[in-house]
Amino acid sequence: MITVVGIGPGAAENQTLAALDAIKQAEVLVGGKRHLAEFPHFSGETRGLNADIDGLMQWLEQNQHRQVVVLASGDPLFYGIGKRITEHFSGLPTGRQNSGKKNIRIISGISSIQYLCAHILLDMNDIYLTSSHGRKPDFDWLLQHEKIAMVTDDVIGPYQIAQEILARGQQRRMVIGENLSQEHEQIMCLNAEQIVQHGDINYGLNVVVILNGNGSDFE
Ligand SMILES: C[S@@+](CC[C@H](N)C(=O)[O-])C[C@H]1O[C@@H](n2cnc3c(N)ncnc32)[C@H](O)[C@@H]1O
Repeated sequence: MITVVGIGPGAAENQTLAALDAIKQAEVLVGGKRHLAEFPHFSGETRGLNADIDGLMQWLEQNQHRQVVVLASGDPLFYGIGKRITEHFSGLPTGRQNSGKKNIRIISGISSIQYLCAHILLDMNDIYLTSSHGRKPDFDWLLQHEKIAMVTDDVIGPYQIAQEILARGQQRRMVIGENLSQEHEQIMCLNAEQIVQHGDINYGLNVVVILNGNGSDFE
């Protein structure tokens, strides 16, 4: 059985009992370095997860008779490895699976976006959720939404998003959540102009919420 486990944004207190239980029963724990480091007491076999996702799929196929747990940050089905694994094992897009046949299960986790919204007391109603992680969003279309939340990466992060906002003559507030639930967590609200003025600084692991208006408060 392949179990993809969402481990939340980082801190142990944000992991669910279901996640911890699955990890406890695993024969093999698969994950990135940062994720495996969260479980130093795991005594079974471990396997690192790198950019070779095709290789991972092949390995999972060969090992699906074992209790394999794949660790995913946040929620596995929100721009995470859960989609690729589900589709690979069923040959169907997510949402079209035959539930009787699967040798795979997903345990949901708290997404970095949910964590940030909770911290700034922002309801998630009508929020448009997306990602710039390894992809370029269509900013013309995206910035027609009033309330947006994005997971990001080093290529398109707060500075580049702020540039896209200003290039379209918009005034927007941006809440940047860095290293959420981890050491050096920082949550700040700035407007797009301020972010561009700060320059392309090195933000930590971050997500961005984009709101209407030009102030620097969360409301
Ligand atoms: C591949 S996506 C995975 C998103 C994840 N499935 C989720 O639900 O949060 C990776 C991105 O998630 C965001 N992320 C994950 N953990 C984070 C954290 N602790 N603090 C800030 N951003 C985080 C970052 O934007 C990171 O580049």
